[in-house]
Amino acid sequence: MKNILFVASEAVPFIKTGGLADVVGSLPKCFDKNEYDVRVIIPKYLSMPWEYTSQLEFVAYFYMDIGYRNKYVGIFKLEWDGIIFYFIDNEAYFGGPKPYGDVKWDLEKFSYFSRAALSALPVIGFKPDIVHCHDWQTALVPIYMKDSFRGGEFYQNMKSIMTIHNLKFQGVWDIKTIQALTGLSDYYFTSDKLKVYDDANLLKGGIAYADFVTTVSETYAEEIKTPFYGEGLEGLMQARSNSLCGIVNGIDYNEYNPETDDRIYQKYNAINFRKEKAKNKKALQEHLGLEVNEKKMMIGLVSRLTDQKGLDLIAYVMDELCSDDIQFVVLGTGEEKYENMFRYFDWKYGNKVSANIYYSEDMSHKIYAACDAFLMPSLFEPCGLSQLMSLRYGTIPIVRETGGLKDTVEPYNQYESTGTGFSFANYNAHEMLGVIRYAEQIYYDRKREWNKLVDRAMAADFSWDVSARKYENLYSWLLGW
Ligand code: ADP
Ligand code: GLC
Repeated sequence: MKNILFVASEAVPFIKTGGLADVVGSLPKCFDKNEYDVRVIIPKYLSMPWEYTSQLEFVAYFYMDIGYRNKYVGIFKLEWDGIIFYFIDNEAYFGGPKPYGDVKWDLEKFSYFSRAALSALPVIGFKPDIVHCHDWQTALVPIYMKDSFRGGEFYQNMKSIMTIHNLKFQGVWDIKTIQALTGLSDYYFTSDKLKVYDDANLLKGGIAYADFVTTVSETYAEEIKTPFYGEGLEGLMQARSNSLCGIVNGIDYNEYNPETDDRIYQKYNAINFRKEKAKNKKALQEHLGLEVNEKKMMIGLVSRLTDQKGLDLIAYVMDELCSDDIQFVVLGTGEEKYENMFRYFDWKYGNKVSANIYYSEDMSHKIYAACDAFLMPSLFEPCGLSQLMSLRYGTIPIVRETGGLKDTVEPYNQYESTGTGFSFANYNAHEMLGVIRYAEQIYYDRKREWNKLVDRAMAADFSWDVSARKYENLYSWLLGW
């Protein structure tokens, strides 16, 4: 039996701001239980729903030195769906209304969390063979493992993996501040380690120090070696290319299943979708005040509203798109300029466009089920889960060919009758519009072809089965099995 510890800043069902939480919450369940004991450690946020907080069991507490501070560390525990989750408690750090906010404060919070997660291990009596870290918030873990935790029997031989879910966020501040927050010595603040120009970069350190680095799709693993996608770390990604690979994300096929999903208006499956799926569209049209017409092509978008997601392409051609015979449903929160952009188009095209500027797990499922197509024209996309959810619900993705979108959506080929979606290559609004219009044409004029696309989309398998085996292979290779 090998012990694996996931260290991360979010995990479903406890706390979620994006796809990271889906991965950290669903992947651990998919490992071979006879060979791997996989546990997860996350912060105990005050903003976690009471239905979970109320079930946590107190384990222990201690005080920990970090930099010039001495801090309380509480440990709670909950077994959920067969997986043991640990929660690090310190309300001064995790008491806010949401997991992230002010960058500098986040740096202090997650420096504390990374050290606390490692310090807690002997206390809870779990000795991982591999510590699997996710994104910049936990990037200090591989560094600490080779620093103050190196001596002593307990941490000896422990390996680390750093998984990059998004290279855009790196955890950067000036060296003096980071040194004070982390307690790391001068040794670490050179250009081959944490230093970038005059700043300190936590993710850079994590990537440099981890025994292995992964990212969440094969294409993104290649893209981040180039200046366009490398976010300034392309040199380091190239340098680590012998110990870097991409493993595409899966989704939880029990949670996202149109046949059993209680959140949607009408359940359906790969056999009866032709009759049943559109009932979801009709109910959603009624609910959102759109023209009620089962035959209208409905395009959905569920997303964090940030630059990453290609929303300026949509802004650029939205008037043209709305002159077509379509409906557009948005669910998302994020940058104010995008929130207002969608509110404006909702006001302008009331019975065609519905902007839902809030976060709702419930509504997201309703949209995945109701729409005919799902738009995801991302500027970059490490993997993307929304397109996988769409495929699962027979909602045809229209995507830009980047990162995981390229790896998971096979473009429609009308001559060979293959493909699961539509895609375009360049970051160009009219190229996107052209492809949306091609999809409209198939939807309206060649309905049987469209339904075959839906057949293929629903038959595509993006459960964790394949990718969890790839992580298992990586773990055993790293441990010299
Ligand atoms: P990212 O992690 O970059 O945000 P992903 O596609 O990997 O993108 O994952 C996004 C996840 O967040 C999906 O599960 C999606 O359904 C969910 N999501 C995004 N915005 C909302 C929202 N406003 N309400 C509910 N779920 C949302
Ligand atoms: C990040 C990426 C997204 C990916 C998710 C889970 O948030 O933006 O593409 O699917 O992490 O790995």
